[in-house]
Amino acid sequence: MLEELEKLQIKALAELDKITGSRELEQWRIRYLGKKSRLNQILHSLSILPLVERRSTGARANTIKKTLEATLKEKEEILGEALLLSSLEGRRLDVTLPGQPISSGRFHPITQTLEEICQVFQNMGFQVVEGPDVEWDYYNFEALNIPQDHPARDMFATLWIDSDRDKKSRLLRTHTSPMQIRVMEQRRPPIRVVVPGRCYRYEATDATHESMFYQVEGLAVDKNITLADLKGTLFDFCRCLFGEERKVRFRCDYFPFVEPGVEVAITCLTCNGAGCRLCGYSGWIEILGAGMVHPDVLKRVDIDPEIYSGFAFGLGVERIPMLRYGIDDIRLFYGNDLRFLRQF
Ligand code: DAH
Repeated sequence: MLEELEKLQIKALAELDKITGSRELEQWRIRYLGKKSRLNQILHSLSILPLVERRSTGARANTIKKTLEATLKEKEEILGEALLLSSLEGRRLDVTLPGQPISSGRFHPITQTLEEICQVFQNMGFQVVEGPDVEWDYYNFEALNIPQDHPARDMFATLWIDSDRDKKSRLLRTHTSPMQIRVMEQRRPPIRVVVPGRCYRYEATDATHESMFYQVEGLAVDKNITLADLKGTLFDFCRCLFGEERKVRFRCDYFPFVEPGVEVAITCLTCNGAGCRLCGYSGWIEILGAGMVHPDVLKRVDIDPEIYSGFAFGLGVERIPMLRYGIDDIRLFYGNDLRFLRQF
């Protein structure tokens, strides 16, 4: 039996040496070390041998088993490494292949414009604040000197949220001016804020009207604020945005919450004041409404108009990139056509 064991070991090791794949290796393991292997059978039948033979055969069989196991383990490691290497070789990267371009995101042209506008005013000492899109009738109208049945309500085609139209009705703000009241309710002068935000009007859309659009509101309240401060601030703003040479026009206008009220226009960027389709052949384009905060508005928020005065302005945002880039339809901004948006 000893002789058989020696032969078995020689044969097993010789076969193992020739193996190159992991499947063959497993088959080899089953053949020589598995439950039904000859070696296992010998180890289990030792009890029927005479005592002397049992000792020597048992010892030999066990060492052979250990040798086979150890050699198998070595072989497994060698094969595993070879396998890894060959798979790395096969998947070698070709660094000369052209790369795939990474597409980067960008800010919406209106976001870019809003940031630019706010930056100009921040440089002058204004703070940026924001307010709710869903507003009370009180802030959007009443507190701004636009009571129920005031004809100025017709200017704002309002999208109502509540059906009963009183002070406590909710609506989608038609302008950013309600934030003037909210800010003055919470702070005492000196106040200098700008408020960028969405506004909504119930209007048929066309090339120059959208039912959702942006405004930036401005408010400054302090002692000794005059119309000259308003004029200086807005002229400076126009120069920052449209260049030193752009002409700026300041004219009287009416808004219920300011007195006096003004309208600011710049010479048309397309025709430079000569007159064209874009400016309705007037040469001028209105960009904002403004004025001195009405004393009744100040009184409503407990600011004494005998001591304090202030100016306010409200500016339409979409119009600015439209003028600058010659965009002739406001609806392009919110149509989400990437071919349009990627140009900015
Ligand atoms: N809120 C006005 C509008 O939407 C614009 C406006 C005019 C705002 C005069 C003001 C202002 O602050 O003083 O048409």
